[in-house]
Amino acid sequence: PVFVDPFDARIPDSMAHIHLTRGAAAIIVAPASTNFIARLAHGLADDLLAALCAARGPCPLLLAPAMNREMWLNPPTQRNIRQLKEDGVTILGPASGSQACGETGDGRMIEPLELLDGLIGGLQPKVLAGIRVVITAGPTVEAIDPVRILTNRSSGKTGFALARAACQAGASVVLIAGPATLPTPYGVQRIDVESAAQMRAAAMAAVAGADVFIAVAAVADWHVLHPSGQKLKKHDLANRGTATLDLRLAPNPDILTEVAALPNGPWCVGFAAETEKLEAHAQAKRARKGVDLMIGNLAQQSMGADDTQLVLFDDTGAQPLPRLSKTEAARCLIDAIAARLPRNARGRG
Ligand code: C5P
Repeated sequence: PVFVDPFDARIPDSMAHIHLTRGAAAIIVAPASTNFIARLAHGLADDLLAALCAARGPCPLLLAPAMNREMWLNPPTQRNIRQLKEDGVTILGPASGSQACGETGDGRMIEPLELLDGLIGGLQPKVLAGIRVVITAGPTVEAIDPVRILTNRSSGKTGFALARAACQAGASVVLIAGPATLPTPYGVQRIDVESAAQMRAAAMAAVAGADVFIAVAAVADWHVLHPSGQKLKKHDLANRGTATLDLRLAPNPDILTEVAALPNGPWCVGFAAETEKLEAHAQAKRARKGVDLMIGNLAQQSMGADDTQLVLFDDTGAQPLPRLSKTEAARCLIDAIAARLPRNARGRG
């Protein structure tokens, strides 16, 4: 139902501006105009929305500003935003880009799915507040020639879900993503890469100063030793008297092993996607790569699916999680990581 009157007769005692927020999980104002933000910052209660916010008590309040770029940059608006943040209001966005007036800059309302991420994030406990997290996700691709690649079936869903959950838990998150068609979670800094070599370079740069590194990417184990600069032609092979193409593959660097071996490096989490003997393979991989926590799953049950069944392996043994959606599993993992992190944050210190 839509309400506009602070004293709406559909509400007991006609006290719409009081009772509508009682029992609500949150108030989200989207779009929040320059004018509304100014009224809110000064505690006005001159219409239903302003009165609702003034009378909300402990109900969380989130605003998604939407206005012209100059109105956003106007010092009084910035002052009001600072005041509202100090008052405990969550500000979502704004985004940057083209505006209804034809100008370009900061002030666009963030996209609806980002609003949803931000709203959910506003309600999550901040178990990773102040922690800097780097995550690799998705597949990598290795060029055979300019049009052909070697890759794998990773969708990136688990890595993106973890990036979203870490961000919603208060971490600052860098997500290094191989080719994946998933939207960037709200608040996450995304770096797109293609090959394992590019992913390694991005990861080594990003982990300097990070507290936690979570390697979720299905990094290709090999790359083509001599990729062709031009498209390979079937008839060229046929002219050489063969229909068979031989590719020589060379091993890729193991990003997780390298990061885990860094002196003063971040606290490291790896994934072991296995097709059999999960516990033995995952524990052996944890020891071999020198990581603090290894998350095991059965690849055939998880790759590309929306849900997953994970087992946590650390010094204390194995801890299985129930079968969960990748979103729920990501939240459980973030809680498990937060509970295990050394108190002095920078990982192994
Ligand atoms: O050895 P395996 O590929 O099964 O190890 C999986 C774990 O190691 C994952 O956490 C994956 O992201 C990471 N890994 C990596 N670089 C590689 C291969 C795997 O970071 N080249």
